[in-house]
Amino acid sequence: MEDVPKVFERLTIRLNYPLFVVTAAVGATREGCMIGFATQTSVHPGRFLACLSRRNRTTRLAQDADVLAVHLLPRERADLADLFGGETGDEIDKFEHCEWTEGPRGLPILAGCPSWFAGAILSRHDLGDHEGFLLEPIDARCEPAELLYFQDVKDIEPGHDA
Ligand SMILES: Cc1cc2nc3c(=O)[nH]c(=O)nc-3n(C[C@H](O)[C@H](O)[C@H](O)COP(=O)(O)O)c2cc1C
Repeated sequence: MEDVPKVFERLTIRLNYPLFVVTAAVGATREGCMIGFATQTSVHPGRFLACLSRRNRTTRLAQDADVLAVHLLPRERADLADLFGGETGDEIDKFEHCEWTEGPRGLPILAGCPSWFAGAILSRHDLGDHEGFLLEPIDARCEPAELLYFQDVKDIEPGHDA
C-alpha cells in the first residue's frame, strides 16, 4: 500500500507555477507574503483565488481587510521572493526593505512588480491549512515581463511553515 500523503508531497514538489506577492493594509498596518497557491477561477466576471496559510502574519491582517493586492513576480526579482517568502512580518517590516507606493484603498504596491491587480474580497474559504480569498479585480496594471516560478525558488525557507 502506497503512503499516499508522502507520494502526494513528492508529486506536488515537482509542479511548477508562477509566484505572486499578496499585500494587505488596514489603517497604517501593512503586510505581505509570497504565494504560489493561486489561480484565476473565472473570465467573465474576472475572479481569482489567493490561498493564504493560516500561520502567516499577512493572513491575520487579511481577516480585517476588504481588498488585497496581488503582484506577479518578475523573473529577475528573486530578491523579492526571498524577502516576501523567506521573511515574516512577525520579525521584520518588509516594507522597509523594498520600494513601494500607496495604491488603491491604501494597498502597498511594490515598485519591483509592474504587473499587479487589486481585488475586492468577495468570500473566504476554508481550504485546509490555507484560507482561500476569492477576489474581484477593481484595479490592475500589466507590463510584459518573464515571471518567476516555483521551481526557481523552491529552496527558500518560508518565514512560516505551511
Ligand atoms: C516557494 C514558496 C511558495 C509559498 N507559497 C505560499 C502560498 O501559496 N501561500 C502562503 O500563504 N504562503 C506561501 N509561502 C510562505 C510565505 O510566503 C512565508 O511563510 C512568508 O514568510 C509569510 O510571511 P508573513 O508571516 O509576513 O505573512 C510560500 C513560500 C515559498 C518559499
